[in-house]
Amino acid sequence: MNLLFENILNKTLEKIFEKLNLETKFAVVKVSDRPDLSDFQCNGALALAKIAHKNPREIGTMIADELKQENCIDSVSVDGPGFVNIKLKDEFIAANIDRIAQDERLGCGKTDNPHNIVLDYGGPNVAKNMHVGHLRSGVIGEAVSRIERFVGNNVISDVHLGDWGTPMGMIISEIIRQNGNLDKVLSYNIDQITEFYKQANIRCKEDETAKENARIITAELQDGNAEYQKAWQHLRAESIKAIRANYQELDVNFDLWWGESDAHKTCGEIVKIARDKNISEIDNGAEIIRLEESNKPKPPVILIKSDGGYTYHTTDLATIKMRVDQFKADEIVYFTDNRQTLHFEQVFEGAEKLGIAPNVKLKHIVFGTVNGADGKPFKTRDGGVMNLETLIEMSKDKVRQSLPEAGEVEGYGEAEIEKLTSQIAVAAIKFQDLKNTIASGYVFELDDFAKFEGKTGPYIQYAVARINSVLRKAAGNGLEAGNVVIKAPEERILALKLAQLHNIVMRAHTEKEPSIIADYAYTLAQTFSTFYNACPIMNTEDKSLSASRLRLAKLVRDVLTLMLYLLGIEAPEVMLKAENKGE
Ligand code: ARG
Repeated sequence: MNLLFENILNKTLEKIFEKLNLETKFAVVKVSDRPDLSDFQCNGALALAKIAHKNPREIGTMIADELKQENCIDSVSVDGPGFVNIKLKDEFIAANIDRIAQDERLGCGKTDNPHNIVLDYGGPNVAKNMHVGHLRSGVIGEAVSRIERFVGNNVISDVHLGDWGTPMGMIISEIIRQNGNLDKVLSYNIDQITEFYKQANIRCKEDETAKENARIITAELQDGNAEYQKAWQHLRAESIKAIRANYQELDVNFDLWWGESDAHKTCGEIVKIARDKNISEIDNGAEIIRLEESNKPKPPVILIKSDGGYTYHTTDLATIKMRVDQFKADEIVYFTDNRQTLHFEQVFEGAEKLGIAPNVKLKHIVFGTVNGADGKPFKTRDGGVMNLETLIEMSKDKVRQSLPEAGEVEGYGEAEIEKLTSQIAVAAIKFQDLKNTIASGYVFELDDFAKFEGKTGPYIQYAVARINSVLRKAAGNGLEAGNVVIKAPEERILALKLAQLHNIVMRAHTEKEPSIIADYAYTLAQTFSTFYNACPIMNTEDKSLSASRLRLAKLVRDVLTLMLYLLGIEAPEVMLKAENKGE
């Protein structure tokens, strides 16, 4: 089912261009820059005229004359140097909206080329507190994962825990230093473990011997030392518990909870392939793969360090091999900040040389940092790194200011208010992130991000809840949705906006850019608001007009709910607003 006006018009234009002997690659329309003049415009006449050395207005007029014959067209004009401005018939728009409203995918198509995508996001490290840096990776990754699934791709998401590097040896050696042995390890909870890591970190910065000791322990752990393995298992399990709880609260989900450690068993194979292919060499005791140096020097991939241990390069290469072998991955996408740009360049080039991912698209999506008002990475008041739990709590506190107290609204006791608080707080955090393009960093708006107004998650949730309440009232009055009729300009504008949905989702998918969806959700909510102010739903004499407007309202509700879903945000049925607090 093709319900997209652009596609319908492009097809129509293609036929016309063929008939007129014009090159069909110029048979494309775009949403008009001048909605007062037209709905869509085709600028093909200008390009064609240049090639054929003809007058663009003449070509434009030829196209326009043909277009006017079409059933769906209300009017066509040739303006300026040769722009063809197209206005669709109201009935045509209305009929299309009816079809979209009745389609379970709301008129959204799927990709022509469904494939297996592994998404590598989150990437928290065992024993370290999760901080806002891990927020973006999780939030963006989750949104991309939902968008990719929705368009029909087979997604496998993996958290790829940092659970195998030197920090592990650092903690173990710090525990031994303080206690003399590892006897108590199994009793430690996440707070104690994190504290050991903090102290280990300080010590290793100041003390070369401590650093060397941590390195040795890491190597022995990786080599299978039973005592270290047992301690590490516990540290890892406790950390995972905390990480899971954090991601669960944020509604960030993973199919796989693999970590760097799971790749260890495949690292040997990677080294073997490198040796068989003769692409590795020994350099200062380490085994490396040299990389091409185009315009900037690129350090080699290090497969084995001089102490015999594998590296972050090796585990990532092994993980690629596992993902290709086990899941037949066609595409693997990583989401991290820009500090890992070089790492992934090296890993991708290494994978190519090793031939472990033939025809697999490897992509690193780099996001900017979350900054405070001072433009520097976001910190707590005392200058520390803001951990995720604190951030969620802070967001909840903000939201509480706008919500009634438990018991103030009928049916909303403590548990209901708490659930709503959490849904809104998470929406505020996620939307503030996703409304920005991935590549750009953003300033964390402490004051405004959880407001029910402006470009925020709660604003969109509120728009949905407001429509829900209209729908409840309408149902109470026995009013049912019916065929769309377009009379007022606000109805027309809203209908055209709704008809863009498929295109928006497809763009968000091809560009892997959830902000396209966030933008659309926000402008759709605004367009609805204008419509709702101008076009009463219940208080019209004309019953068919009420039914039509009800259908539009319901469709907006469904589209906004879908958009929130794709962003990883819940849409509560009801939003409460405190009477005298803030908003
Ligand atoms: N653990 C890493 C970090 O905190 C991110 C992991 C990214 N994924 C990967 N396959 N290397 O920086």
